[in-house]
Amino acid sequence: MAPELKVLFSREQIAARVAELGRQITCDFTGEPVVLVGVLKGAAIFLSDLARHVELDSTFDFIAVSSYANQRQNSGEVKLLKDVEQSMEDQNIILVEDILDTGLTLTYLQKMLLARHPRTLRIAALLDKPSRRQQSIHADYIGFEIPDQFVVGYGMDYAERYRNLPDICVLR
Ligand code: IMP
Ligand code: MG
Repeated sequence: MAPELKVLFSREQIAARVAELGRQITCDFTGEPVVLVGVLKGAAIFLSDLARHVELDSTFDFIAVSSYANQRQNSGEVKLLKDVEQSMEDQNIILVEDILDTGLTLTYLQKMLLARHPRTLRIAALLDKPSRRQQSIHADYIGFEIPDQFVVGYGMDYAERYRNLPDICVLR
């Protein structure tokens, strides 16, 4: 592993927590269909693991927004790059995101999706950095709370690198 990386959550810890979140979602929506909407690209790996622990009739969809664009700072601007492909009307939507940081991205997406009249809209975020919040937003399913550290791996990047690391690592 590159010397600038330190493991924060191992692949085993991630797998155990993601399985728990999947069981919780399965319980909460017993017998109902759900649409898992992943925020590209960071949430792709989380969604694919989570989905295999959700024992419900489910479909996937993906959305893309502009993000850090090779910087460690968030510009505060959110721009939709790719919309979902299916109708959200009267569906149980679970918005799946890698990290809840300032809250700007999820606040924007939540507002956009609520305007399409889903039956329910819940948020699943693998990581939460509550100390960075600029917009207050409630996530229904959170994997781990972390301090204000920049992390990579398990789908998350720094300048598009490190997404393929199986563990979640802190970039020093
Ligand atoms: P927010 O709009 O500030 O909540 O930003 C959320 C997005 O910022 C996430 O979807 C990530 O793509 C990105 N992000 C925030 N913190 C990190 C980090 O520590 N590592 C990698 N990406 C991050
Ligand atoms: Mg993201």
